[in-house]
Amino acid sequence: MHKFPLAVIGAGVIGRTHIERILKTPEFALVGVAEPSELGRQWCAERHIPTFENHQALLEATRPQGVVIATPNATHVDIAADCMARGLAVLIEKPVADSLIAAERLIQLEKDTGVPVLVGHHRRHNPILQKARQIVTDGRLGKVVSANVMANVYKPAAYFDVAWRRQAGGGPMLINLIHDLDMLLFLLGDVRAVQGSLSSAVRGFEVEDTGSALLEFACGTQAVMTVSDTTVSPWCWDFCAGEQSQYPRQNVQSHFLSGTQGSLSLPDLALWHYPGERHWHLEMTREQSSLHEIDVYVQQLRHFRAVAERRETPICSALDGWRTLQAMQALLHAAHTGQRQSCPAFKP
Ligand SMILES: NC(=O)c1ccc[n+]([C@@H]2O[C@H](COP(=O)([O-])OP(=O)(O)OC[C@H]3O[C@@H](n4cnc5c(N)ncnc54)[C@H](O)[C@@H]3O)[C@@H](O)[C@H]2O)c1
Repeated sequence: MHKFPLAVIGAGVIGRTHIERILKTPEFALVGVAEPSELGRQWCAERHIPTFENHQALLEATRPQGVVIATPNATHVDIAADCMARGLAVLIEKPVADSLIAAERLIQLEKDTGVPVLVGHHRRHNPILQKARQIVTDGRLGKVVSANVMANVYKPAAYFDVAWRRQAGGGPMLINLIHDLDMLLFLLGDVRAVQGSLSSAVRGFEVEDTGSALLEFACGTQAVMTVSDTTVSPWCWDFCAGEQSQYPRQNVQSHFLSGTQGSLSLPDLALWHYPGERHWHLEMTREQSSLHEIDVYVQQLRHFRAVAERRETPICSALDGWRTLQAMQALLHAAHTGQRQSCPAFKP
């Protein structure tokens, strides 16, 4: 298999995660990185990566077949438009955009140019989640009645030295819970309505330190989610799924689905059901799936290549990114107004 040439735009936290994966995976070649900051370009130069001050210069000078966009949310769609005008497939970091209008522009660009877009909700590439989705669609849980999700962590004081992390939009709802929200959309389909509540009572910043959400899915499932960055707790996907080495792994579960025929916990993929009659006085059986561990970011890049080469359709399309962003925005609005918010379907 020939090396697939990739470019990366933005060499910050997640940009470097992508760069490191591209460099260590033989089927990819890194043709260059666009990064305005001196510090970021220096990090690249130390790795002998050609660097450019902006994405236009990068696109002029190199010949990638796919571009990873890992810049601040507000820049995602403008940069994607420039790549797509050149026929280059894009992997855009989550959230897809900073507004639904910008995400809708991206959906239109995809239609007009025929160039595919993959949104970087990387957890969808985890085989655990894909197996869970299979269990749900195979009907092993019957009708999924409820879902419970916890995303509770402790971030140290120094994390908040950066001003935007203390301000609206910089909190755990948009940074962390959006991943869990996307997982539920992947497992259960469209959200119909949401209610939410936010609190900043512990840290006292403008931004929330804690939030809770009640989601009603079109399939009828009700989900309850909590997130906090001020709790000493192991109950968070990042800790128990082992996707990133900076989080010490904990042998606990963070996501629970309960159905009329069975229940499933994640990430351990324990499936609980009654072997015969369903009755709360009877013993339940616990079935376990075991899976090989993979690097979800490498898996995402492999899928991106297949999308760019038109061999696969995006596991998280621009429209999927829009749906997740819509549900999160509705949740934030619901929390601020105290009103239940509906999530109407996308209308082209
Ligand atoms: N999938 C994940 O797990 C994950 C994790 C973290 C961040 N993200 C997402 O990735 C994006 C970047 O977040 P981050 O934490 O890496 O931020 P960051 O601030 O660490 O990095 C962003 C980088 O982009 C550069 N940049 C800014 N404007 C640019 C432009 N026009 N062209 C090229 N480079 C530009 C900045 O100089 C910076 O180095 C955000 O959308 C964020 O939500 C995703």
